[in-house]
Order: sequence, then C-alpha cells, then structure tokens
Amino acid sequence: MPIHETNNTVVQAKKLSKTYNSRTNVLDRISFEVRRGETFVVIGPSGVGKTTLLRLIDLLEYPSSGRLSFSGQDTTQLDNYDRLELRRRIGMVFQSTILFNTSVYSNVAYGLKLRDTPEDVEAKSVSRALKTVGLKDLEQRYAKTLSGGEAQRVAIARMLAYEPELILLDEPTANLDPANTSTVEKAMQKAKEAYGATVIVATHNMFQARRLGDRVALLLNGKFVEVANPETIFTNPRESVTRAFIKGELIY
Ligand SMILES: Nc1ncnc2c1ncn2[C@@H]1O[C@H](COP(=O)(O)OP(=O)(O)OP(=O)(O)O)[C@@H](O)[C@H]1O
Ligand SMILES: [Mg+2]
Repeated sequence: MPIHETNNTVVQAKKLSKTYNSRTNVLDRISFEVRRGETFVVIGPSGVGKTTLLRLIDLLEYPSSGRLSFSGQDTTQLDNYDRLELRRRIGMVFQSTILFNTSVYSNVAYGLKLRDTPEDVEAKSVSRALKTVGLKDLEQRYAKTLSGGEAQRVAIARMLAYEPELILLDEPTANLDPANTSTVEKAMQKAKEAYGATVIVATHNMFQARRLGDRVALLLNGKFVEVANPETIFTNPRESVTRAFIKGELIY
C-alpha cells in the first residue's frame, strides 16, 4: 500500500538503508511512518540497529540510501544549515549520557540558550523540566557530582526544557530504579499531553515498551518484522519470531 504523507506524519522512511564500512546493511530498505502525537517503540536484540535508526532520525547521520522525511520535508535533500534548523525541533536523549562539566542548571538551559530564549523564560523552563524528572533541588549542583541515574534524568530534563516536537529516547531508563523509571515515563506522558510531542523510544525493557507504546516495532536483520499495538505484539503476535523474541528464546 502506498504511504501518503500528511500533516499527521512526523517521520516517514522509504526504503531507508544504512551500511557501515560497506558491510551488510544495518538497516535494509525499511519503510515506516510515525504519526504525530504517538509513541513509537523500537525493540530488538543488541546490535540490531536501534541506535543507528534514532541517529538517522535525529539527522546526525546520513542514510546510505532511501528517503527520510521529517514533517513532510525530505531531509536527505537538505543542506547542513537546513538540517541544523530541523534538528532544533528534535530532542534526543542518548544511550550514554554526556553532560557538560558545569552546573545542572547550565546543562538543562543549554538547548534554550541555543534557541535564544529570554532569561526569565529560560529559568522557568529549567525549573519546570527539573521538577518533572524529580530533581528540582539539584539546580546548582555540579554535573560531575551526580549519580548515574541523576545524570540520566538531567539529560532528559535538558531535552524536555525546550519542548521539542519530536522526542527520541535511546534506552532512557536503563540506569534508573523503578521509581525513577516511572517518573521519566510520566514526564514523557506530560510532554505529550502538554504540547502533543511525538515520541520514539528504543528500549530493552519489554514492560516499558508495553506501557508506553501506541505501536511497537520489532527490528531484526535490518527490517521491521512486525509493527503493531502492544497488545498484539505481547500477547498475540502475527510472527513466530516476535513471540520468540518477547519470550527471550530468540537465538541471535
Ligand atoms: N559508526 C559505526 N561504524 C561501524 N559500525 C557501526 C557504527 N555504529 C554502529 N555500528 C554497528 O551497527 C550495528 C548496529 O548498532 P546499533 O548501535 O544501532 O545497535 P543497537 O540496536 O542500538 O544495539 P544496543 O541494543 O546494544 O544498543 C552494530 O553491529 C554496530 O557495531
Ligand atoms: Mg543502542
């Protein structure tokens, strides 16, 4: 079936491929779309290409072939300046958090400063973002004194502070305890309710995939082998390989 681009499509990939060092395709001609306001969860074994896919969507890398559109614009046709402009509407939290060696406040304010935000708005946005991840008392702390889980939440606050229309999360709660995982998941929910953010998450946490996903996509051998609602993926998948992966029985 042809894919129609509409205002309701935030990300659209057509025959998107990514190859490193001309070896086998990490991503092999995948086509999919992510709709405005939905949470699209990508699952799949380690090394399958989840981070690669998120980095392509974040416009940090170029596809080897195929087309990738953001909000109706074909990003593969844009020059660096226009890609940078588009990137400002996207927020990514990386698998390994990197904070600047300054205060928590400065870290969270970073994206707002890039966007020339007035100082009073900046201060309010930073406070609000830190509050949503349960860290409002740490504004003045030095980032390097934070625990791993605190640093992860600061990275999430840094992204939430400027309210990106597209949020990309790569294993956002891998370092967090259950209570903080719940705090972060609620923060995502809030961003969706407050301004209609679209969220793409890569996770190894199947409970999280089930809780957060409007749709869940299983990536295997460079392809999405199944994309469906969480209920279908986790209780009644169409593909036997999906069932095997969910049950931890997939030999890979
Ligand atoms: N810059 C690179 N150069 C060469 N190979 C790379 C590069 N980045 C990723 N790869 C390879 O591409 C494949 C996919 O990597 P990717 O990080 O996207 O996997 P992943 O699904 O995110 O894995 P994990 O669940 O462990 O985070 C891996 O085999 C990886 O070694
Ligand atoms: Mg990864």
